[in-house]
Amino acid sequence: MNLVAPSLLAADFLNLENEINKINNTKADWLHLDIMDGNFVNNITFGPDLVKQLRKHTNLLFDVHLMLMEPNRYFKDFVKAGAEMITFHYESYQNNEQRFQAIELIKSLKCQVGIAINPKTSVKVLEPFYLEVNMFLIMSVEPGFGGQKFMPKMLEKIETLVKVQSKYNYLIQMDGGINNKNIQLIKNSGVNVIVAGSYLFNGNMSEKINEIKE
Ligand code: DX5
Ligand code: ZN
Repeated sequence: MNLVAPSLLAADFLNLENEINKINNTKADWLHLDIMDGNFVNNITFGPDLVKQLRKHTNLLFDVHLMLMEPNRYFKDFVKAGAEMITFHYESYQNNEQRFQAIELIKSLKCQVGIAINPKTSVKVLEPFYLEVNMFLIMSVEPGFGGQKFMPKMLEKIETLVKVQSKYNYLIQMDGGINNKNIQLIKNSGVNVIVAGSYLFNGNMSEKINEIKE
């Protein structure tokens, strides 16, 4: 069965408490929190202070997706704020030594760790990390904004990860442009954690999540 992680990016930020309560009343498994710094991506979202406040209103696992130029500066703050999974971008670093360091840093904070790749990044670069991380996030849109069009070609990356998954302990997550038109394809591909923003927040979230989890 798939885990479902609504992306808060699509929520009404003037009504966050209601939005969180709405998510709490569904079968959502995780809360996906998109952190953008205006550098790694053009958009700017929110930081650890908001995450800390959200922590008081839900028991959902906090799945923090960092789209930052210098992610290491913020690991501690997000874990303190309640992050239970921190996913950094492969593209935020220059080499694997730096990436392994980042993994160790997150693990030392007793937090689970994931690596995300942009659509243009080959899935092959993830191989050295198969044993090291809890999750791989395959972006199915360019990171930065909600409501973009799903890139079906990204499912080939899922296929590569699924092939060897049984030898390791990682989860596979997909994020971007997921809706009722492509959900069946994504479920069939073997993705474990489905992130969706605009699709889940427009209409009856509870029904949509039940359908995904069927
Ligand atoms: C994009 C974010 C996504 C975004 C998905 O950079 O990582 O999590 O919220 O939104 P939708 O589902 O609307 O594409
Ligand atoms: Zn995301």
